Amino acid sequence: MPVDPLQYTPKITLEFKIGEKDFYMAGESASRTKRTLQQLGLNQEVIKRVAIIIYEAAMNVTIHATKGVLKILIDPNEIDVITEDEGPGIPDIDLAMQEGYSTAPYEVREMGFGAGMGLPNIKQNSDELHIETKVGVGTTVKAKVYLKEGGFTSA
Ligand SMILES: Nc1ncnc2c1ncn2[C@@H]1O[C@H](COP(=O)(O)OP(=O)(O)OP(=O)(O)O)[C@@H](O)[C@H]1O
Ligand SMILES: [Mg+2]
Repeated sequence: MPVDPLQYTPKITLEFKIGEKDFYMAGESASRTKRTLQQLGLNQEVIKRVAIIIYEAAMNVTIHATKGVLKILIDPNEIDVITEDEGPGIPDIDLAMQEGYSTAPYEVREMGFGAGMGLPNIKQNSDELHIETKVGVGTTVKAKVYLKEGGFTSA
């Protein structure tokens, strides 16, 4: 029987502060988390899904909000990716979830972002997605990835 490394460790929390137009931190938080998950022996598919969620959620904080915090909670059964930001909020979540919908400003689009694919991508890669938002205040995004059987094998 392979040993599940997380069974013997307490919940692990990673935390990153994301500032406005801090594109570097979005990529950096995804790669640092990837390294941690690799050290824990999680399989590549799970790691890839978590990294996509982190990158897209952090990019949304950076592009659309003023500032925020990104937390990754790792436990033996699931990984939670949470962003909490201060910003404009999302007036219509169903609309924001649609592929191709974006309010990204021109200068952000020029950099190659703003395809309106981040939230659909987060949805596709998570097992659960909860978005709480208040217009003029901010947004919290909680995405969960379950660590099903085989989550710890490198297959
Ligand atoms: N944290 C957030 N705060 C405020 N608005 C947000 C936030 N996240 C998403 N939105 C709104 O939802 C829209 C869709 O988000 P989504 O991530 O799908 O696309 P995008 O960020 O515009 O482009 P892409 O992710 O493809 O670069 C955004 O354009 C924005 O209007
Ligand atoms: Mg986005």
